[in-house]
Amino acid sequence: MAEDSSFAARARIGVLISGRGSNMVALADAVSAGMIRNAEIAVVISDQPDAAGLAQAKARGIETLAIERRGRLRTEHDREIVAALRERNIDLVCLAGYMRVLSSEFLQAFPRRILNIHPSLLPLFPGLNAQQQALDHGTKVSGCTVHFVDETLDGGPIIAQREVPVLEDDTAETLAARILVEEHQLYPEVVAQVLGGLAE
Ligand code: GRF
Repeated sequence: MAEDSSFAARARIGVLISGRGSNMVALADAVSAGMIRNAEIAVVISDQPDAAGLAQAKARGIETLAIERRGRLRTEHDREIVAALRERNIDLVCLAGYMRVLSSEFLQAFPRRILNIHPSLLPLFPGLNAQQQALDHGTKVSGCTVHFVDETLDGGPIIAQREVPVLEDDTAETLAARILVEEHQLYPEVVAQVLGGLAE
């Protein structure tokens, strides 16, 4: 990113998770390795207090927040998350296994600044169990997609995709594991690209 970037200092990334957090770790490692330059993961927020990814983030010295969604309206829950992101001057929001569709209020708070990763070649197989959906359809090629987030489930303009061949003897688990390897490369690449674009 250029010295005269539109960001006051380093770009501040907020990552939203609901579970394991391996894509969040891939992003954090890419920041540490200088692959995503002039940026930091400023906060990791989970809607599930017991998400394994929270411990991973803490272990890397990243601030974590659990903002539980259970029993709350989406708008109210999203408002609290948006407030937490704003308080921390977040420039870019990365959904990484975050299992809730965002409200329009959330989207309007960060226009074109919310990304998501999904384990299929969207628009094919949105939603849960994308790898099993690919197997059920007998598709020969699947993969992963990073896209801008809109109000639809795994919708929004596609930024980049990576293909992964589906093998004869694949199970949802073996296919998911091979797609995940690609996810961990693709997401940091796209974040670096998007931040570069924002800074121009
Ligand atoms: C990934 O496959 C991601 O594409 C999807 O949910 C999974 C999250 O895995 N949205 P992790 O929590 O990043 O390990």
